[in-house]
Amino acid sequence: MIILGIETSCDETAAAVVKDGTEVLSNVVLSQVAVHQPFGGIVPELASRKQMEFITWVVHQAMEQAKVSFDCLDAIAVTYGPGLIGSLLVGLSFAKGLALSTGLPLIPVHHLEGHLFSAFLKQKDKDGDGFQPPYLCLIVTGGHTELVWMTRVGRYQVLGQTLDDAAGEAFDKGARALGLGFPGGPAIEKAAQGGDESAILFPRATLEGPFDFSFAGLKTSLYRYLKGLEKRLERKVRPTFADICASYQAAIVDMLLQPLERAMEEKEAPALIVVGGVAANQSLRRRLEDLAQKWRARLLIPPPYWCTDNAAMIAAAAFFRLKEGLSQPDLFADADPRAPLPSFSEAVSN
Ligand code: KG4
Ligand code: ZN
Repeated sequence: MIILGIETSCDETAAAVVKDGTEVLSNVVLSQVAVHQPFGGIVPELASRKQMEFITWVVHQAMEQAKVSFDCLDAIAVTYGPGLIGSLLVGLSFAKGLALSTGLPLIPVHHLEGHLFSAFLKQKDKDGDGFQPPYLCLIVTGGHTELVWMTRVGRYQVLGQTLDDAAGEAFDKGARALGLGFPGGPAIEKAAQGGDESAILFPRATLEGPFDFSFAGLKTSLYRYLKGLEKRLERKVRPTFADICASYQAAIVDMLLQPLERAMEEKEAPALIVVGGVAANQSLRRRLEDLAQKWRARLLIPPPYWCTDNAAMIAAAAFFRLKEGLSQPDLFADADPRAPLPSFSEAVSN
């Protein structure tokens, strides 16, 4: 089954052609980083305008690079939410038009479910895991931090989530305070190189929900530290800039690992999936490898270029849903900026 995926939920315009949910025939991602950089964050109105400008070219490129014609496709998959409404509408409307003119079925896909299936895209040098649930899944993006127990395609139990900022947001807001560029994750990761992560002991929040996350307090403590109000956090005389970045990054990673480890223990999870932009972080990846080894669990973590937003993951999720009979073609799907992860019972009643 060959599916064209389209993803425009935020500031990337992406299209990809994927065979049988795992084999990526083409993957085109046009980033708008340069457009939003001067503003230190994404400007939604600019994002949707750029999506309109880029979408035709990006889809055309994906089809050309995959060397397929529309006759070879079985479906068109597109992100319907969550995300920025203007950006979502561009991809969804474009996909609807394409589906109508080609007669292909249109499969709406939830963005986070897309991220989950990025874990099954085949890498050149590695055999895939196949699909062997259950999986404990950590989804860490710019807008979401969720811990999910997946027992089969479409059956997702949200064990915990962030009570305030997402992990990616903690990186992005932290980077802004540190005078680094946007997006903040890669900028902090780079600036932290060679830094001493024990130089400053930023606080790690203790929460009531064992699987929940919180990053707002950490962000505030960085702001206060930078204003010279939290000198008592210093464990080293005169920390360097790299030390500050490394210590802040280490606090985010620690706060992701704590609920994750509790859930590994409670669920006795045989396998762990970690996806989303923040999963590209090398320091987090190293800690995850140790964690997986400790619990003798399989670790599925896509290469960095599939952690951040792309359309191959959208086509992959559509394939797995179609295979399970969970998705119906829907030419009238609405964009939903706050769409919750679709659970199995919802999918059946639809
Ligand atoms: O999944 P994603 O591309 O888009 C959303 O769905 O939000 O995630 C974007 C987030 C941003 O907050 C960005 O700073 C973060 O992922 N990110 C990283 C890294 N690369 C991207 N965070 C930490 N380290 C990285 N290397
Ligand atoms: Zn994303």
